[in-house]
Amino acid sequence: MDEKPVVYVTRRIPEPGIELLEERCKIVMWEEEVPPSKGHIMKKLTETEAFGLLCNVSDTIDADVLASSPNLKVVSTFSVGYDHIDVEEAAQQDIMVGYTPGVLSETTADLTWALMSACARRVVESHEYVLDGKWKAWGPTTLLGHDLHNRTLGIIGIGSIGSAVARRSIGFGMDVVYSHPYRKNEQERELAEMGVDIEYVPQDELLQTSDFVSLHVPLKEETYDMIGSQEFKKMNNEGILINTSRGEIVDMDALDNALEDESIAAAALDVTNPEPLPSDHSILRHEPEKLVVTPHIGSASTPTRERMSVMSAENILAALEGKSLPNSVFDQIKEVS
Ligand code: DGY
Repeated sequence: MDEKPVVYVTRRIPEPGIELLEERCKIVMWEEEVPPSKGHIMKKLTETEAFGLLCNVSDTIDADVLASSPNLKVVSTFSVGYDHIDVEEAAQQDIMVGYTPGVLSETTADLTWALMSACARRVVESHEYVLDGKWKAWGPTTLLGHDLHNRTLGIIGIGSIGSAVARRSIGFGMDVVYSHPYRKNEQERELAEMGVDIEYVPQDELLQTSDFVSLHVPLKEETYDMIGSQEFKKMNNEGILINTSRGEIVDMDALDNALEDESIAAAALDVTNPEPLPSDHSILRHEPEKLVVTPHIGSASTPTRERMSVMSAENILAALEGKSLPNSVFDQIKEVS
């Protein structure tokens, strides 16, 4: 009989995390590409009397899921965001919650810049242009786009990803402004030491003055739909919106209208609402000159995803040894409150 405690893993994660877990746990894993339903997760947790649940941003971990296994002691999410987990309920049920902070900030900042450049310089459209056989000659006015250099970047939310995005602006000689629920003097000092001068401004001013607006806030009640029709009206009509945070931060209908009436020039989204975004969603009628969408790949580099797999396994193993989690959501909440 297998005495190892069971960990239910809702998607196959990179091997290093699996190997680490296998040393001490029995892994029961969902192997499909489409995530398991909430009902299926509950069934597996109940059936296996799992000790741990290793989940990700596709899963909704609510009170019912948390109550499914009498032995559930730890939920470890393969993500930095934990808006898909009812953390309060987990605390009530005495279940620890782990996450993977820090490790993916640089990788997500890389993608943010990739999207900014792709959108400003019409990279996706240019590729299609070549594929469609339209490249007949070099053209003085072909596929003209926007510059990035010497322009103004507005960062909404200056946590670790927002700061990593700000740092990358040096090479482009951009002015950087940020808004945040409060002024972050320490962050400003750290960035200044690295040669990045960022200025704290009210969000309305940021929207009015930035050529690029990049979103880096966590999803909470107060950030849901925080960029809607009023905000698009404030943006300049050459402005480009980048979202690599959570889809629900942007009101998608308002974005659709803003692209349609050209109150902004373009948007690049790595996250959408809904997610996944169906290929027949009406917003996708906008040409890539105006809209570029990637499928939530902010942290998707091999080394980062491997490191995330190890960190999420380490959270489970710490719980198994009766220790506090190396990356506990409860500690993070205490720190910010
Ligand atoms: C996260 O970690 O929260 C990302 O959205 C997925 O990597």
